[in-house]
Amino acid sequence: MSRKSSWRNRLSFYLLAIGSACGLGNLWRFPYIVGENGGGAFLLLYVFLAFTVGLTLLIAELMIGHFTGVSILKASKRVALQYKRPIHLFGWLSVFISAVTLAYYSVICGWVLHYLTQFLLSLFQAQPISYLSQTSMMTLYQNSWLQFLLASVHLLISIVIVVKGFAEGVERWIASILPLFGILVIILLVKSLSLDSTPDVLRFLFYPDFSKLTWASIGHAVGHVFFTLSLGFGTMVTFGSYFKKDEKLPVIGFRVTFVDTLISILAVLLIFPIAFSSSKKPLTDPSLLFEVLPQFLAREKGGVFFGLIFFLCLWLAALNASIGLLETVTANLVEKKPELKRSLSAWIAGFFILGLTVIPAFSGTLFKSFKVHGQGFIETMDSFLINGLLPIAGLGMVIIALLSLTEADRKKLFVQDASPTSYNMYTHWRFALKWVVPIVILLGLGFQLFEFVSY
Ligand code: TRP
Repeated sequence: MSRKSSWRNRLSFYLLAIGSACGLGNLWRFPYIVGENGGGAFLLLYVFLAFTVGLTLLIAELMIGHFTGVSILKASKRVALQYKRPIHLFGWLSVFISAVTLAYYSVICGWVLHYLTQFLLSLFQAQPISYLSQTSMMTLYQNSWLQFLLASVHLLISIVIVVKGFAEGVERWIASILPLFGILVIILLVKSLSLDSTPDVLRFLFYPDFSKLTWASIGHAVGHVFFTLSLGFGTMVTFGSYFKKDEKLPVIGFRVTFVDTLISILAVLLIFPIAFSSSKKPLTDPSLLFEVLPQFLAREKGGVFFGLIFFLCLWLAALNASIGLLETVTANLVEKKPELKRSLSAWIAGFFILGLTVIPAFSGTLFKSFKVHGQGFIETMDSFLINGLLPIAGLGMVIIALLSLTEADRKKLFVQDASPTSYNMYTHWRFALKWVVPIVILLGLGFQLFEFVSY
């Protein structure tokens, strides 16, 4: 594995892990999830769960990979053989989730590509602003073929990168431009926070109103923590298997969680003032980012050019995530079927996923009348996948981390410098892994199920 030998410096690992965590999850999904769950109280719950459940599991996944040196499918198989229990099913579940998530993610990446091309085309229009203000999410949503085409273009680019074995180079390159993206976000943030609606937004976000939380919000927060930190997919296990021996897993885990959470908070601070000021845009819809940001940029001086670079960066960040997901599926396939060439495995995985994109891409037309408890197809699928299946895969990770490593192994990997504080932290981490994470996951699932049946 050429990848294993090339983790030369630590910084590049951080960039890759942070690159896989930061993506559409932060800028597209987080804002509307916060809107849907009523603002401040949910934000608080989310941050709390990111640093308890998320961080704990992130360290555990890195540890599984670091210790076993293999991907999740093989790691789960070993535990299954050793304990004679069907634990490998959790490994399969993770790979399945990665494939379906990538299909769904590609459609949203297609939306990003759509806006990117609109900004590009508007540069050649006599009146870019009036051109841009005609682009609405509704027209795109009703054009399934266009959505499918855009998603396919995006996915094919990801497939070619993985097939050609450029994944690492491209991921590294994209990760190195992430700081530029961060700067763009901050510039936009300053603009957006100077709008009149800011005081209302700050009240909405930082003055928690706990009456707006429902019990099921716990499940929504857990699901998003998993999605945004790429947990439950097996990605972090694969990453962990690439590490050098002396890597400090808790420190890496903490930094990745911190940066990811920070970006999510910046994202809501960026989107909400614009959404609040541009009449009553629903905050609760997956189209939130795409409805709000382009219209705002179209009105600003130099906004067209800025928007072009912004959507380009957003697409690159999303491409990075797509490559990561496809690599996860491919790596597992290669381990499962070593007789297949790696490039062939990537084509097979890619085309299988491309077939799956038909479902989310055509949801706006074919499944137009689909409604479960007032939610459309895309939202229902998103909830089922991310708030339902993903936490179950996370539970599998807990089991695998507890069974594939002995207490001594875990302690050795966690406590690097043998100081009393790290022993202390280890005890807390182990408690969180054994009790807090499973209990919170089960409560989240239980409350959502209860809400679903008693609707
Ligand atoms: N965390 C990514 C985001 O927030 C999405 C994602 C989920 C991902 N699983 C992944 C990215 C696996 C790379 C690998 O957008």
